Amino acid sequence: MALRLVIGNWKMQLTVREAVHLALTLRHSRLASQARLVLCPSFTALSAVSRVLHGSPIELGAQNLAPVANGAMTGEVSASDLKILGCRFVIVGHSDRRALGETDAQIRQKVRQALASGLTPVLCVGERRAERRPGQARPVVRGQVQSAVSGLPPAQRRRVRITYEPVWAISPGGPVTPPQAFAMAEVIWQSLGGQASPLIYGGSVTPSNINAFLDGTHFSGVLVGQASLTARSLISLVNG
Ligand code: PGA
Repeated sequence: MALRLVIGNWKMQLTVREAVHLALTLRHSRLASQARLVLCPSFTALSAVSRVLHGSPIELGAQNLAPVANGAMTGEVSASDLKILGCRFVIVGHSDRRALGETDAQIRQKVRQALASGLTPVLCVGERRAERRPGQARPVVRGQVQSAVSGLPPAQRRRVRITYEPVWAISPGGPVTPPQAFAMAEVIWQSLGGQASPLIYGGSVTPSNINAFLDGTHFSGVLVGQASLTARSLISLVNG
């Protein structure tokens, strides 16, 4: 069975100093060996957090990356630099970024950039509250998945960790029920031609609801925002 994967998305919630402090506390905590913990600090904290995590089993991820390898792109950060800084994962297409105007075409390019640099893309897909009406959410999610992975050879496609994160369920919204999330996981599998490997779930995951989502069949990992901001909560997410 796949290791329980917990990805902490710290968004823009912590200062560099707070991020380093939290990473240090986690590094010196007892974490279950059946779990994999990935921390995604903001770009400005990546280097310092990377030094703290060096030699520990806790892994590093970034929250975004540039859609091209290099060039005149003010404010962007390349996949290769993320790799050099010690990242193994990168979140792609988070709804916060889609809300800022990121397009499916850019997300497709970002997935490719991540893969080309040896990073694992954590591809976020999910319907917005207005798209929750019956019959609408499924085509939206299917379209996001197919657009992001279209044209990828099967071996590369398998390296993309697809994350179902209904936008309306991100805190302070409520979580979906596990059966609702499982049903969408099956839609995602169908859109990938029946490839049924476990996905990641995100949206108001807490220590008290995590186990209901991680059934090992539909989901083997979680992407966590709010509940990843304290050591206590992250440790209970990891240790179960
Ligand atoms: P949340 O955020 O866990 O606070 O709902 C998840 C996310 O936005 O990735």
